[in-house]
Amino acid sequence: MANSRAKRNVATATHVAMIMDGNGRWAVARGRPRLFGHKRGVETVREIVKSCPDLGISHLTLYAFSTENWKRSKSEVAGLMLLLRRYILKEIAALVERGVRLRFIGRRDRLDASLARLMSSAEQQTAGNDKLNLTIAIDYGGRDELRRAAAAAAADLAAGRVDEITESLIESHLDTAGLPDPDLVIRTSGECRTSNFLLWQAAYSEYDFVDVNWPDFSPELFAQALDGFMTRERRFGAVAK
Ligand code: FPP
Repeated sequence: MANSRAKRNVATATHVAMIMDGNGRWAVARGRPRLFGHKRGVETVREIVKSCPDLGISHLTLYAFSTENWKRSKSEVAGLMLLLRRYILKEIAALVERGVRLRFIGRRDRLDASLARLMSSAEQQTAGNDKLNLTIAIDYGGRDELRRAAAAAAADLAAGRVDEITESLIESHLDTAGLPDPDLVIRTSGECRTSNFLLWQAAYSEYDFVDVNWPDFSPELFAQALDGFMTRERRFGAVAK
């Protein structure tokens, strides 16, 4: 895997964003509760994060909980929040050791205060790392992020801090300010939707819809998706060369 990755050229994806879909279906197909699928999904997260350095990935962004996921049953929401809490508590030492910088995007005001504190503390503990930039989206929605950024940009204009609202001003108010746009967005489970993920940032990203549920996704399938990405011609709105 590492060797085939080393052969990649300038078109290599360095920032990959993932919509980790299909945990529920994976569990139901096995006669198990949906939360069992999410638990297995955390194992996949661990494997995928570990595989990034070998695959030449410097930025990985994972969609863990959307602004719409609050509509799920109380027990599923509570179970997902517990898994996120446990992931941070269990992984933080390994992430620090492996040089991973952890960030969270999304709203924090609707999260349990102790989870929000844990997230901030994990961000602070890993702030000096740069081998892998791992961003986890929690209570995140692209429309909500754009609404907040638009409000902040309008406040800048009203206060006379800027003369006009530019793209870079809006970008500076996104949760992802300072991070590169994703080169590739992978969605598992065969569904072909963006589901409110990185609406601004993925304007020119390539998409790969992989036909396995998230618990069955693996570093091997990740490497295959990256190989597929290499064959794509990205024109960013210009004409083919
Ligand atoms: C979508 O599958 C998955 C989610 C809404 C949650 C994803 C969360 C994890 C993988 C675990 C926690 C994450 C981290 C980073 C520790 P679904 O439930 O919508 O599946 P379905 O479409 O088959 O119902």
